[in-house]
Amino acid sequence: MYSKEQTQVLQKKTDKFLQAKQAGPSEMDALRSVLRFHEYRYYILNDPLISDFEYDTIFKLLEGIEREHPDLVTPDSPTQRVAKGLTKDFPTVQHLVPMLSLDNSYNSEDLVDFDRKAKELTGEQQIEYCIEPKFDGAGISLIYENDLLVRGATRGDGVEGDDITTNIKQIRSIPLSARFSSYGIQQIEIRGEVLINKNNFKHFNEQLMEQGLAPLANPRNAASGTLRIKDPAEVAKRNLEAFVYHISDFTLQEGKPLPELLRSHAGALKLLWELGFKSPEKEKKQFRGIEQVVRYCYDFEAQRDDLPYEIDGMVVKVNSFALQDKMGMTSHHPRWAIAYKFKARQGTSTLLQVEFQVGRTGSITPVAKIAATPIGGVMVSSVSLFNEEVIREKDLMIGDTVLVERAGDVIPYIVKPQSALRTGKEKKIIFPHQCPVCKTRLFKEPSEAVWRCINIECPAQVVERIIHFVSKDAMDIRGLGEANVRKFYELGLIRDIPGIYTLDFDKIGSLEGFGKKSIDNLSAAIAHSKSQPLHRLIFALGIRFVGETTAKTLAHAVSHLLDFKNYSTEQLLALEDVGPKVAGSIYHFFQNPANLKMLHQLEKLGVQLKNIKKENTTGGTLQGLSFLLTGTLPRLKRSEAEELIEQHGGKLLSGVSSKLNYLVVGEDAGSKLEKAKKINSIKIINEDEFLQLIGKK
Ligand code: IVH
Repeated sequence: MYSKEQTQVLQKKTDKFLQAKQAGPSEMDALRSVLRFHEYRYYILNDPLISDFEYDTIFKLLEGIEREHPDLVTPDSPTQRVAKGLTKDFPTVQHLVPMLSLDNSYNSEDLVDFDRKAKELTGEQQIEYCIEPKFDGAGISLIYENDLLVRGATRGDGVEGDDITTNIKQIRSIPLSARFSSYGIQQIEIRGEVLINKNNFKHFNEQLMEQGLAPLANPRNAASGTLRIKDPAEVAKRNLEAFVYHISDFTLQEGKPLPELLRSHAGALKLLWELGFKSPEKEKKQFRGIEQVVRYCYDFEAQRDDLPYEIDGMVVKVNSFALQDKMGMTSHHPRWAIAYKFKARQGTSTLLQVEFQVGRTGSITPVAKIAATPIGGVMVSSVSLFNEEVIREKDLMIGDTVLVERAGDVIPYIVKPQSALRTGKEKKIIFPHQCPVCKTRLFKEPSEAVWRCINIECPAQVVERIIHFVSKDAMDIRGLGEANVRKFYELGLIRDIPGIYTLDFDKIGSLEGFGKKSIDNLSAAIAHSKSQPLHRLIFALGIRFVGETTAKTLAHAVSHLLDFKNYSTEQLLALEDVGPKVAGSIYHFFQNPANLKMLHQLEKLGVQLKNIKKENTTGGTLQGLSFLLTGTLPRLKRSEAEELIEQHGGKLLSGVSSKLNYLVVGEDAGSKLEKAKKINSIKIINEDEFLQLIGKK
C-alpha cells in the first residue's frame, strides 16, 4: 500500500506536524493523509510508528482547522468516523447481490470429493485453489461509490440486511475511502467479517463482570451484538476489526478495461490489500491439486489458538473467476467454494451440582460442576454460570445434560440444557441467601444482577484480594501464586495484604516443597514489588471499577497515592474516562479508615506510594534525561519502552530538538533519525543500548 519512499515522506510530515503548534487550511490534505497512514500502520499492519498520544496530537490539529472551516470538511476525513448522538434505527436495505452461505466439509474425504466435482464441472485436469481462514464473526457488506464508502450493512437474511453505516465507520480497519478509481472501478460491493480480537474480548468481558453484568458468551456474539448498538461512541470503544474476503459486484467506469487483478480470487485479495483493506493477503495460499490444500487446512487448524482472533475453519475457493463462473451456484452456496470446518469445541456433559464462589468484591458466582469432558483438547469440569439470571434464562437444572462450548482462549460456558432429555428427576438450583463462607446475609443492588457478601472481612474476599494484589498485571509477585496464597492463608502465615511484606520465611522454609532457592526467589520477588510503578499498586488494590487503564490515569494525577484522601468526587470526575460510578467507588475507597490504615502500613513496610515520575528528588537512573523513540524496536512495544523511560525518571519528548538527549532507534526509523544526526549533542542508541542504560541488559 505504501512504498518505502511514501513511508519516508509521510514520516517526515508526521514529525513536522508533531512540532507544529498550528496548521492552516492548506495543510488539511496532508494532515488527513498522515492520519490515514498511521491508522493503516496501526489497524492493518499492527505495527504503529507513533504513540497514541502523538496520533491524537495530529488529529486535534486537523479537528481545529475543520472547526474553523466546516465547509472544507470531506466525508472521508479521519475526523468523520466520530458520530454524535444515537442512531434512530437501522433501515432495511437490499444487497446488490444476495449474500450466500458456504457449503461445509469436515475432513479430507469431503475435500477430495469437492475437488472431484469441481473437475467435473469445469472439465479441468487440475484446479488451482486459493485457501484462507474462515473468520468467526459477523458477516458484512460494504458499498463504495466513486471511491467513497457509502453503505455498510449486516448480512440479515442474505437478501436484505440492516443499514449500519454509522457503526461500520467506527471500525478503523475499514477505510472511509479507497482509490478504486485507479483500477477504473466506479462502484463495488465487498463482503467481509467483523471481529473482536481475543484480547479486546477478554478485556471487555472483564469490564462487564466488574460491573456485576454477565459476560458475553463468545467473540462472535460480541461482534454481531456490537454492530447493532445504537450509540456509535460505544461501538468505537469495543475496538472491532474487519477482514474483507470477497468482491460480490462491481461496475467499471465507462470505457475502462477489466483490471488484470480481477481475474482471480487471489488477485481480488491483492487489489483490496493494495487499497488499504485488511484482506487475508498474508494468510491466503494458492495450491494446484487438493492434497496440499488438505495439508494447509490441517496445519492452520493446529495453529488456530495462536491467532489473535477466532477462526472456525478454512475456506477453499477455486482461484480463477472464469472457472468460478463456469461452476455457478445453488440458491444456498457457490459451487466454487467450500468451508473446511475445524473440530467443534463443543461437548455434552451432565450438570452434577452448583457451587457458589465468593469473589474479591464479595460477588457470589455460581459455578457448575460437570462430569469431566474433553472439549477442544482440554478437560472441562467446572463452568461459570456468572449470576442468578443466567441460570434462570437458560432454565438450567441439576442433572441436566448440557451443551458446553469453549472458544479459543475464552472460558467455557454452557450453551443450553438438552431439555428434551429430561427424565423428571432433575432438581432446581437454589441460590443461597447467606454467604457460603462467612454466613453474612447476601445483598443485591437493584441495578445489578449479582448478589454480594458485604462483609469486607469475609475470609473468602480477603484471600481473593491478596491473590489479585500479587497477580501478574498487578504487583507481579512471582512465586506467590494463587495456590500458595491459599495455603499460607489457611496456615495463618498471611492474614491481609500488608502481611505479604512480613511473611515469616523460616516458617515457610519448614513447609514441604519450599527449598532455599524458592524461598530466595519469593523473597526477591516480594522485595522487588515494593518499587512497582504506582499504577500497578493502584490496580492491585482492587478498587471496584478501577481497571488497568483507570489505574494509569489515577497514577498520573498525583505525586503520592494518599493525595486521593483529599480528592472530591468532582475532582475525580475531571479525570479522563472517570465517570460517576468509578469516581464514587474511588472516593469511598479513600474515605474508608480501614483502607487508609492498610496504605499507611504498606508504606511503612517499604512499598512505594509515591509517583516516581512526579518526584523530582528521587532520581531514577534516567533522571534529568530526555528521550524520543523512532521506528519499531525489536522486542519492546512502544508503550513498554515509554513506560520504562518514565519509570526510570526520564522524560519523553515529542520531537527532535537540541533539548533531546537520547533518540532510541528501531527498524524503519524515519526523519527523526536524520534530524537527530545533525544535532551533535543527541546520542543515538538502539534497544540494547537503551536496556543497558536502565540496567535491564
Ligand atoms: S466467502 C459467495 N470467505 O462464513 C461468497 N466467507 O458460513 C461466500 N466467512 O456467510 C462467502 N470467512 O459470513 C467467505 N474467508 C471467507 C469467510 C467467509 C468467514 C463467513 C461468511 C459466510 C459464512 C458461511
